[in-house]
Amino acid sequence: MSEAPRPARLAVLVSGTGTNLAALLAAIDEDPAFGAEVVVVGTDRPGAGGLDHARAADVATVEVALADHVDRRAWEDELIARLAEHEPDVVVLAGFMRLLSGTFLARWPDRVINTHPSLLPAFRGASAVGDALAYGVKVTGSTVHLVDEEVDHGPIIAQRAVEVRDDDTEASLHERIKAIEHELLPRCVKLLSRGQVAVEGRHVRILEASK
Ligand code: GAR
Repeated sequence: MSEAPRPARLAVLVSGTGTNLAALLAAIDEDPAFGAEVVVVGTDRPGAGGLDHARAADVATVEVALADHVDRRAWEDELIARLAEHEPDVVVLAGFMRLLSGTFLARWPDRVINTHPSLLPAFRGASAVGDALAYGVKVTGSTVHLVDEEVDHGPIIAQRAVEVRDDDTEASLHERIKAIEHELLPRCVKLLSRGQVAVEGRHVRILEASK
């Protein structure tokens, strides 16, 4: 009988309230076949609400503020070093609002995954929900993708649409998008953790689960 592979070790980076982190932790908790565990949660914003979810789940936390470093490079080097202490296999950006350079990505090649609140390539950047609302689109949504060196650009793993309502505010629309993200991000992290994500250029294929 062959042994089950060890669970993938996840680092999750957050800048905000961390509802996506909470959804991921719950999904792992509920699914014995998930194939991953969160070993560290990192943030660029000391005191970020997302850290509370980590602490409640007894997960180590790492706080690395840009303001405490001479430049972005020093900040990122410190973030890489502090995360690496926990030997993650996959890095999940769950509302992490800073760009990561090629140095970071080279450390975890095709293993950094992001959730973005729009149907990429529309509305890249930090204000995707407000930008979609201001543009007047009727449909926006959620995209989970692998991270490359361009902003909100890497190969797309999954997307789901969300209708925009006439009376939507940024908050109401973002809430419905987050409800989708809370399913889509854990599903994609599970696929990546189980080695079911094959990348060819911009194209991602989902491989059958091995028995
Ligand atoms: C999520 O909607 C995520 O897609 C977005 O931040 C929110 C974080 O929510 N990320 C971006 O806009 C990145 N460009 P959360 O802290 O409640 O998980």
